[in-house]
Amino acid sequence: MNNESLDLSLEEFEQLLGQSSKLVINQYQGLNEKKAYHDFTQAEVESWFDEPLPSDGKSNSELLEEVRKKVLATATNNLGPHMYGYVMSGGNQVSTVAELLATTINQNATKWHLAPAISEIEKRVIRWTTEMIGYAPDAGGVLVSGGSAANLTGLTVARNIFFEKKNIKQEGLFGQKPFVVYASDQVHSCVDKSVQILGIGLKHLRKIPTDDQFKIDTRALEEQINQDIKNDLTPFCLIGTAGTVNTGAIDNLSELARLAKKYEMWYHIDGAYGALASVLDSTKESYHGMAEADSIALDFHKWLYQPFEAGCTLVRDWSSLRRTYFSQAEYLDTALEEDSDRLEFNEHYFQLSRNAKAFKVWMSIKSYGFKKIKAMIQQDIDLTNYLIEQIQKLSDFEVKAYGLAVACFRYLGDCQSEEEITAVNQQLIPALEKDGRVFITSTKLKGELVLRACFINHRKTIETTDYLLSVIREVAETIRKLQITNC
Ligand SMILES: Cc1ncc(COP(=O)(O)O)c(C=O)c1O
Repeated sequence: MNNESLDLSLEEFEQLLGQSSKLVINQYQGLNEKKAYHDFTQAEVESWFDEPLPSDGKSNSELLEEVRKKVLATATNNLGPHMYGYVMSGGNQVSTVAELLATTINQNATKWHLAPAISEIEKRVIRWTTEMIGYAPDAGGVLVSGGSAANLTGLTVARNIFFEKKNIKQEGLFGQKPFVVYASDQVHSCVDKSVQILGIGLKHLRKIPTDDQFKIDTRALEEQINQDIKNDLTPFCLIGTAGTVNTGAIDNLSELARLAKKYEMWYHIDGAYGALASVLDSTKESYHGMAEADSIALDFHKWLYQPFEAGCTLVRDWSSLRRTYFSQAEYLDTALEEDSDRLEFNEHYFQLSRNAKAFKVWMSIKSYGFKKIKAMIQQDIDLTNYLIEQIQKLSDFEVKAYGLAVACFRYLGDCQSEEEITAVNQQLIPALEKDGRVFITSTKLKGELVLRACFINHRKTIETTDYLLSVIREVAETIRKLQITNC
């Protein structure tokens, strides 16, 4: 047997790191001028990777060159300021380094003794988060993959604690009277998925209508709760959204807290998109009632500018997490450990093996400081408002809705009818993707198609915002010319 390993010599490893650093720096070079999207066909991209399983390795220099050409140079430019689709925060440089350091030490953030410092860092990040958003200082929490996982986690805790007396961990849902989850019709689709996964069933998710600001209609909500009680169903969980994905709307969180209490429901808040904006003096007021939630879902790869993935679930106390997730296993027993203050994350979450998501969050908060991060969040909101003000001054665009860092609008140009407006805006999305200078997506508001621009990215400026409108106008005018010629 040879004494072989996968390791390079330290000199070779240093060289590989040096070459990789150059690639990283290159991604940042001329970021404002880089395209947001490269319009290759799916078949073409697939063809780049169409090769048999490599039996022998190739040189790392050649490999890095392949990576540069096929992956880095063609990547959708989530880093850059011209990304407006979905919620893509652009990451941050300190977290890039943190990811490298974290994978180097390869800690498993599960049992304390497998990752002592990382476990304590995760606890600290949870504590800082509660402090940032003004939640219960002793709240328990766990870092998860993102907003969807954070909501699923919050709702899992909700279900297991709410039905703890019925021994749900042992008995399952069998024999339970159906129970109902309430949220607005703007609730994120991950809640639909969670309700399915948790065995509650979509039939028991009530999507309550929203008002003209896309906030839950609390009167309709209470009527629905009473109707369900009359029908012998159990009101179980009320979900408030602190920043909807469509328009950034924040539900009336204090009224929801009151209703949750009145009807003895679990109160969960989906703050994946917007809860972190509550740190700003300018928006704080809209978040009254958030501190009363039993659980909150947050997403650090949105407004903490983390690279994917990093989400977080907070609950009022650590014991709710443990009562939900603890499961006895001989090979994980801590009975022989002497230090009883160790917090075992595997006992407080579903995953056993976990990477060190908290480390990049911790390093970047320490490096930039909370003041700077707050300023960036405010800047995103200010730029969104700037875009709205510009559109309001124009006759060829119209604002449809906006909130926090989301702006929904339409191109009007010289269109003469609703049909023409819808047609041009529909065609704009694929045409802009083909053009590639800016990346923007659409959504539907009360059935109407609109362009939706998300501004969560600390690299945007007034100039890049003006650029967005000028590119959309240019592409739309070309579409209009073609439409008119074809008529
Ligand atoms: C309000 C809201 N909830 C949940 C999610 C899902 O988060 P993730 O994409 O991190 O799973 C999003 C994503 O945009 C969101 O805006």
